[in-house]
Amino acid sequence: MLDRIKAALGYYWQAKTLYQIHSPRAFEFAQQLVDDDRDFYVFGQIETYRALLKSRTEILEIKDLGAGSTTGAGNKRAINEIAQSALSPRKWGKLLFKLAAHYKPKTILEFGTSLGVSTMYLAAADSNARVVTMEGSPEIAQVAREGFARYEYSNITSLIGSFDDRLEEAIAACDKRLDLVYIDGDHREEPTIRYFERIKPYLHDDSIVIFDDVYWSSGMTAAWERIKSDPQVRLSIDLYKYGVIFMTPDLLEEKHLKIVSSHWKPWAQGLFG
Ligand SMILES: C[S@@+](CC[C@H](N)C(=O)[O-])C[C@H]1O[C@@H](n2cnc3c(N)ncnc32)[C@H](O)[C@@H]1O
Repeated sequence: MLDRIKAALGYYWQAKTLYQIHSPRAFEFAQQLVDDDRDFYVFGQIETYRALLKSRTEILEIKDLGAGSTTGAGNKRAINEIAQSALSPRKWGKLLFKLAAHYKPKTILEFGTSLGVSTMYLAAADSNARVVTMEGSPEIAQVAREGFARYEYSNITSLIGSFDDRLEEAIAACDKRLDLVYIDGDHREEPTIRYFERIKPYLHDDSIVIFDDVYWSSGMTAAWERIKSDPQVRLSIDLYKYGVIFMTPDLLEEKHLKIVSSHWKPWAQGLFG
């Protein structure tokens, strides 16, 4: 706990706002995505779906597949409990939508569908983008699938099974070219690095990879440090919850950046460097 508080304070202290960023790509990211508060019509629909999930008391059988997939409360959980604790909050769902809307990926691969909220945010940005999502707990995935059908998301392919087992098929379903990848499941060091190594051959200059919860544990932070120092990673943006990497060449002097919304540092207008 103390480690996480220290990490959060350290992050906040070092984080820059858009007024302090020189790299064009990182500046664009801060301005268009981090500082942008706009809401889109579809957010309301996805949040209605989330509210519906929070009212459902049916119990699901959970398969324990990795850190973060269970709460230690056994292998049965109510839908409303999962909706309460395991899904991307609205703020971060909005960022996923904006990332997809801004960079216009044609293929999106998600590790960890859960009940499908983040998948919907990713898929809503462009109905022509193909979203492939993997979930290891069949009963959870089934609820997500019903949600996708109910709201008519025809661009989502949902695969059920462990990431290790389904990844090859998922990559093939993205035509072996991954434009945007969101890794939000199995928050442990070794598997996170392993998934990155497995997707790496299918990333290209314009690919973006988002890692969820990079400060969730010391193992996740170690994985994040190792991944962002990979020579193929040209820019890393640390948003505290998400770690985002770009493979596109960028200004070398700003290779690793921590970025925070200027609302959180209103005095940081870049006047003091
Ligand atoms: C944090 S939840 C995903 C939340 C979802 N992305 C959202 O924000 O709405 C992580 C999910 O990944 C699944 N998961 C964890 N490890 C897995 C693995 N090794 N293979 C397949 N699924 C896994 C869990 O069952 C869980 O539903």
